[in-house]
Amino acid sequence: MAIDLAVIPVAGLGTRLLPATKSQPKEMLPVGRRPVVQYVVEELANSGVKRMLFITGYGKSSIEDFFDVNHQLINNLRSTGKEEQLAELAFERNEVEYAYTRQREQLGLGHAVLISEPFVGRQPFVVALGDSIIGMNAQSRIVERMIEEYERNNADVVVAFEELSDPAEVVHYGVAQPRGTITGDTFELAGLIEKPAVDEAPSNLAVAARYVFSPSIYDELRQTERGKGGEIQLTDAMQKVLQKGGKGIGIRLAKNEPRFDIGNFESYFQAFVDFALADPQFGDGLERYLRDKLSLNLPT
Ligand code: G1P
Repeated sequence: MAIDLAVIPVAGLGTRLLPATKSQPKEMLPVGRRPVVQYVVEELANSGVKRMLFITGYGKSSIEDFFDVNHQLINNLRSTGKEEQLAELAFERNEVEYAYTRQREQLGLGHAVLISEPFVGRQPFVVALGDSIIGMNAQSRIVERMIEEYERNNADVVVAFEELSDPAEVVHYGVAQPRGTITGDTFELAGLIEKPAVDEAPSNLAVAARYVFSPSIYDELRQTERGKGGEIQLTDAMQKVLQKGGKGIGIRLAKNEPRFDIGNFESYFQAFVDFALADPQFGDGLERYLRDKLSLNLPT
């Protein structure tokens, strides 16, 4: 059966985005017109995912409300003839099943994924981090390609990677150790290291928030001890799967599949500007505004 189940961890505290995230999840921050997590769900649905299991946490219930049907709002828009706004809620009726469970302790990404085990059982599944958008307006089909590679290679772990233009950024990500020289966009994964120092990084390929796993990841996660930052790291469990002979495949994001990491203000601001500039209604006006503003600020 084709893989149609994704686990979406959204339990992180978003501390790098305070105070914006004090009383709302970072996954609900708007990027252009939509909250981050709406792009993630659309992207997954476009890749054939039909069941989404969110790993939420305290203070994250607005994510559940968002994907629910808001009858009061619908009735209000309908009775006041606001058809255009009503169309914005069409996603509420997507043919997707949503489920939610909570990570009740902040023990890291690996722990968040482990919480899905009683619900997922022994079947392959996707993991998509809820704070990362891939491709403008969720256009990326990276997960579909990953599922294909998973099946073709009979793999245990498939990971999407972003090539970092600034090698100093490896310290923020899981980093790939490819096997041999990389010739195409897909390569065999020999190992992974979480947030290495610049001189320890085996490549400039950063784990880009999309994974496909066989259930063997759970066997390793259950035994994974706290690693970097005192947290149970998903990367450490992947590394163990590979060390025990599991097959790992890496796929590079294409040039037209930028990754937007909504985990810090710098990349959040950039993502917002990119999406707002691409807005069919307001993009051109914003561009004129920015051009004016920036040229006015140039030193004379
Ligand atoms: C997590 C993972 C890391 C990955 C990153 C992608 O880190 O641990 O391997 O590269 O997500 O966004 P975090 O951003 O939670 O620190």
